[in-house]
Amino acid sequence: MHMKNPLILGIESSCDETAAAVIRGRVLLSDEIASSSSVQAKFGGVVPEIASREHLSVVDGVVARALKHAGVQKEELDAVAVTYGAGLLGALLVGLSFAKGFAYGLGIPLIGVNHIRGHLAAAYLEDEALAPPFITLLASGGHTAIIYTKSETEFEVLGGTLDDAAGEAFDKVARILSLPYPGGPHIEALARNGKNVVPLPRMLKGNGGYDFSYSGLKTAVLNYCHTKEQRGEEFEKADVAASFQSAALDILVQKTVEGALERRVKTVTAGGGVVANGYLRERLQAACKQAGLKLILPEKRHCTDNAAMIAAEGLLQYRAGNFAPLSLNAEASIPLRSV
Ligand code: KG4
Ligand code: ZN
Repeated sequence: MHMKNPLILGIESSCDETAAAVIRGRVLLSDEIASSSSVQAKFGGVVPEIASREHLSVVDGVVARALKHAGVQKEELDAVAVTYGAGLLGALLVGLSFAKGFAYGLGIPLIGVNHIRGHLAAAYLEDEALAPPFITLLASGGHTAIIYTKSETEFEVLGGTLDDAAGEAFDKVARILSLPYPGGPHIEALARNGKNVVPLPRMLKGNGGYDFSYSGLKTAVLNYCHTKEQRGEEFEKADVAASFQSAALDILVQKTVEGALERRVKTVTAGGGVVANGYLRERLQAACKQAGLKLILPEKRHCTDNAAMIAAEGLLQYRAGNFAPLSLNAEASIPLRSV
């Protein structure tokens, strides 16, 4: 017999963020995060070995803070939910091993969370009344897709990127423009001073499907910058950033609204690091308003990697009775089609 509003500890360590959060039902009690991104920035990306070591040195402190700020004793917890994949194996193993020890020691269930499902679940934290069916725009560093959520545990991927994920494209274009890692927030900031005047390809627009591609767009940015440099011509990096941002994100807004109208749902949600982008948030707001759709956007801190979303997905799994054995292993990749 499981209770409706259990007290769940969520733990996330799939990349360079070590995070822990506590929820009671859908109410978030605490939300802690320690990031090694400033260490990683020196290398222009995430170095797996460094990420693992950073997780190891902070995980117990982050969990202790989450419990303290939630005002709960660990003995009160009903379950521990932890990301088991996808992500960097060494990094995942730190959070997973910690969670297993915690759950075993307390004699409470372990819940294995697919990181992507965590991003999808972030919207539940925003609106207590949110209920499927709805369409979700998932746009992170690893995945970009339009997803139809049928029920709390059933999904259908309508389509997505055929090559790079949106976040990956932001990171690659940031490198071309000599901006630091992770590129998304830097491109967004630079784009505020720029104009959408650089001609860039708009991908697969109007083909009726939900698939799109980012590699052509990235190459077009590279070619534009190289050609300008070779000719010794001046160009505004801010204009390149603004033009790329618009080309990369407008398609996502368009496909998301198309998905909602085709599936006749009234609600749209979004998740993943790229959804922290202010331009994307504004465009989604405007497009959903125009189409008469209700938009539930997670707070920006719940779009990028965090443990609150892992606890939120943990709650759905708890209610469905999906618990993991202590033999649960970390997985570097989990196909999107099997979310
Ligand atoms: O969801 P996330 O934190 O980690 C993954 O699961 O991948 O997403 C990270 C990605 C990075 O590629 C980062 O550049 C991008 O999200 N990102 C952004 C913004 N903030 C983070 N992209 C565009 N605009 C932003 N403000
Ligand atoms: Zn993520």
